[in-house]
Amino acid sequence: MISLETYLEKAWSRYVQITPDAPKVHGLLEGRGEKVLNDHIAFRTFNLPGIGRHEVGAIFERWGYRKSGEVLEFPEKKLKANYWLHERDEFPKVFVSELLLEEVSSGLRAWIEEITKPWKGRKIGADDLLQTNWEPIDYASYEKFYSESEYAAWTAAFGIQLNHFTVSINHLKTFSGIHELNGFLQANGIVLNEAGGLVKGTPSELLEQSSTKARKVDCEFSDGKHEILGCYYEFAKRYPIPGTDRLFEGFIPKSADKIFESTYDQKKS
Ligand code: NI
Repeated sequence: MISLETYLEKAWSRYVQITPDAPKVHGLLEGRGEKVLNDHIAFRTFNLPGIGRHEVGAIFERWGYRKSGEVLEFPEKKLKANYWLHERDEFPKVFVSELLLEEVSSGLRAWIEEITKPWKGRKIGADDLLQTNWEPIDYASYEKFYSESEYAAWTAAFGIQLNHFTVSINHLKTFSGIHELNGFLQANGIVLNEAGGLVKGTPSELLEQSSTKARKVDCEFSDGKHEILGCYYEFAKRYPIPGTDRLFEGFIPKSADKIFESTYDQKKS
């Protein structure tokens, strides 16, 4: 099995292909002398045997991660998520959500089951996170199911690859906080997601988050290339748990719910 460091490096190379703003932001921060560390990385998948959220998380357990006991629920989007933590600060938390197929329409469920057929009887491994996971889907189905679940359409189109990296604002030295960072990015032409306000969460909730807005990128479909929304780059600032010197390390469902919408196509929703 490859090392965690190598995996993260390769995952970044794949991620920037669907998130053209990420290397731009990275360059802007490095230009100020910052060294960028990630707060968390995130995956999207389906609750099917072999590729569910616990199986994806198990890959990281082999790299020394431990699963937090907390289960996060997103009833409106029909998702559940868990997160995994590493004791070394330089390794990002891992957030894995999955679509609950028993809660979607029978048409959408049948489509996902068809696409993921190659996974029958197999279990996902580290290498699978760095390559395509099934045959390209057809664009008409992508369009058809997008309106029911953007999450399902995105995952069907891109597979179980890393969905986003998140800059840890706590590790930045030249910004007073998330508002100054957002202002700097906007002044440099980066478009941020304003669903639910520019900043999700508050210091009293112990986590503030913002993100870029996903841009259109080429994606391979069974009938050729089409432009669809890729992914976003996220920013997170954590606060200490009152009465302790430990930073809050969880997630806030109502904030994450809006962050998920960074990949929404306004024209379609
Ligand atoms: Ni995130």
